[in-house]
Amino acid sequence: MEQKVALVTGGSRGIGKAIARGLVEEGYFTVLVGRDAATLEVAAKELGQAGFIVADLVRPEAPDEVIKTCAARYGRLDVLVNCAGLSAAGSFTEVTPDEWDRIFAVNARAPFFLCRAALPLLKAAPKAFVINIASVVGFKGYINQSVYASSKHALTGFTKVFAKEVQPFGIRVHLISPGGVATEMVRQMRPDIKADELIQPEEIADIVRFIVTRPGNGTIDHFYIRRYSGLAFD
Ligand SMILES: NC(=O)c1ccc[n+]([C@@H]2O[C@H](COP(=O)([O-])OP(=O)(O)OC[C@H]3O[C@@H](n4cnc5c(N)ncnc54)[C@H](OP(=O)(O)O)[C@@H]3O)[C@@H](O)[C@H]2O)c1
Repeated sequence: MEQKVALVTGGSRGIGKAIARGLVEEGYFTVLVGRDAATLEVAAKELGQAGFIVADLVRPEAPDEVIKTCAARYGRLDVLVNCAGLSAAGSFTEVTPDEWDRIFAVNARAPFFLCRAALPLLKAAPKAFVINIASVVGFKGYINQSVYASSKHALTGFTKVFAKEVQPFGIRVHLISPGGVATEMVRQMRPDIKADELIQPEEIADIVRFIVTRPGNGTIDHFYIRRYSGLAFD
């Protein structure tokens, strides 16, 4: 494919869909990954220069299958955005092993193995970017978010190592750690936050656009974006 290709997990809705829209506007053919074919098809049609791959990232084989499908269909990958995520609210005393496994599978294991499977395609790209969407709870600890926070700490830790290991290949790796963003997920996790104080998904998409359009001599490894209504430098 002549056109640059981006792949966004969780691109069917929420933050991922806003990121995908931004990447289409920057000229990328953008591949959306999620579980629901109908939602993905509607989103891809709406975005125009977009396709989709149906995959449940809880399955250990899914990352390899997604990248193989991307390679077979499009022959290249310039930008990988790991945005798909699962959350759960409640005391750590209530978490079941199955719930722990599912959340870690989507939030931590899938990005790890997607990055690994994508490496040959990213190495071949003229300018390659990997952008992992973690969370402020990849650094902080909020009550009732034990598994979610643990999984985002895992993703944060992996990103720091991965960025260094692929730096010799010219692959630029960035971490975005948002606070509360106006999507379905925050409505479940933090119903206490006022809707008009939430970060908009487009604000996260703007950071991604900034990353892919300004690969200069200076770089920002980590974007930590909090709600303006929250406490500064907290
Ligand atoms: N919203 C926030 O306040 C906030 C703050 C910080 C970080 N984040 C992070 O930002 C990312 C996007 O969150 P969001 O708020 O946009 O959430 P969302 O609206 O709930 O969207 C989640 C996305 O992940 C996909 N997904 C979930 N489970 C999946 C699975 N097993 N396999 C494949 N895809 C799966 C969903 O697609 P399907 O359901 O169609 O499969 C959907 O596209 C997540 O990683 C989240 O942790 C969110």
